[in-house]
Amino acid sequence: TPAPDLEGIRVLVSAGGTREPIDPVRYIGNRSSGRQGVALAAAAAARGADVVLVSANIEQSVLDDAIHPRVRIEPVGTATEMQGVVEREVASADIVIMAAAVSDYRVAKVADGKLRKENSRGKGMSIALTENPDILAGLVQEHRRSGLTIVGFAAETVASEEELVERGKRKRARKGVDLLAVNAVGWNEGFEAGDNSLIFIDASDSVTGAVQGSKREVADALLTEVLRARGNEPL
Ligand code: C5P
Repeated sequence: TPAPDLEGIRVLVSAGGTREPIDPVRYIGNRSSGRQGVALAAAAAARGADVVLVSANIEQSVLDDAIHPRVRIEPVGTATEMQGVVEREVASADIVIMAAAVSDYRVAKVADGKLRKENSRGKGMSIALTENPDILAGLVQEHRRSGLTIVGFAAETVASEEELVERGKRKRARKGVDLLAVNAVGWNEGFEAGDNSLIFIDASDSVTGAVQGSKREVADALLTEVLRARGNEPL
């Protein structure tokens, strides 16, 4: 059994990928499986934390790994729904980890009925999009308080590790988070994969660590890094 170094700590984790409806039967989504966020929730609970897992469209077989008496699961569909739950739950959190892949846009006018191909008369079609709020940046701007540690993820398609770190530092500063976990994604890495590899960038824009392993191992390393960022040496 792991050391109970998160006992009494309340952790809010978002996981999965939001889906933005186009019409009653279609959506714009992404390939996030939710595995990394689920692993974070499970690892935090195993270390004694009380966890709220905001779950966006995670397959039940994946979500099953987060089932634990100290994990409460809050299902959401869209980015707007996720924002509502996260902004409500942040008030009683000590650590927020935004691991979800949140859609940057939503459909400007969701159709009441199924869009029909006949109506486009062979001319193709386009869908107007509206920008979604950045939930993470909003937390930093509106909900920051002492004792709350805010952690973001950045999934980047990059050509080199240097580029990954450079992009990570810029994103860390832009969002103002206490810690940013950066990972390379591509057609064959990151999303959906069993293993993951992360680089940690702290509030002084230093790379404080890198970890590669199963999503559970990576989750434990991230939680230890969060404790360090909070100034508590782990047990
Ligand atoms: O800017 P980018 O999408 O790469 O930032 C990723 C981080 O921001 C993740 O932690 C993600 O959960 C969060 N995010 C968010 N709201 C958005 C977009 C991203 O909270 N609309």
